[in-house]
Amino acid sequence: MAFTVAIDGPAAAGKGTLSKALAAHFGFAHLDTGLLYRAVGARMLAGVEPVEAAQTLTADDLSAPNLRTPQVAEAASKVAVIGAVRAALVDFQRAFARRDGGAVLDGRDIGTVICPEAEAKLFVTASPEVRARRRWLELREGDPAADFETVLGDVKARDDRDMNRASAPLRPAEDAVRLDTSDLGIEAALAAAIKVVEKRYRSAR
Ligand code: DC
Repeated sequence: MAFTVAIDGPAAAGKGTLSKALAAHFGFAHLDTGLLYRAVGARMLAGVEPVEAAQTLTADDLSAPNLRTPQVAEAASKVAVIGAVRAALVDFQRAFARRDGGAVLDGRDIGTVICPEAEAKLFVTASPEVRARRRWLELREGDPAADFETVLGDVKARDDRDMNRASAPLRPAEDAVRLDTSDLGIEAALAAAIKVVEKRYRSAR
């Protein structure tokens, strides 16, 4: 049986952790769609034209070692405004979403554009300051000199680009359940998300 869980929201809201844990809880497959845009961004930084990079993306590109760096995140957010880049990635995401056995996809436009018919939709948010702080704590592990104000500026710039682009901008689907994780730990956020999905899953079976 196909069952799609769409998780959207801004950068560093906790979508990744939540999506992985939800997928594990229900035994569903998980696709971090940001990784597709990051892989295209990384190829652009390596000199490949972005549309061509998206059209010829391979599994190897998705396991490149530098995909989590701030430089690649920035490049991903830039290639993500290009309509032809987004179009090249649609079929793969839709096929993944409808695979047998259930799937969780996290990104920016899953509930609105990729899977408007998803059985469960969550829009995960947190304030820019909380998100920047989480990102900063992560970055500091590898770089003790990481500066909070710079990270906050990057988070806001990425929000602005993701929300104000013409092609598939970041916004909650009308039927998405909003989950603000500003004051929630991962356990509480996961419990709330499980509740939402459980209800839909029960009625779909
Ligand atoms: O979720 P992330 O930080 O890995 O995403 C990196 C960039 O990719 C993000 O700034 C916007 C873009 N993106 C998108 O436009 N649509 C998606 N479904 C996922 C990511």
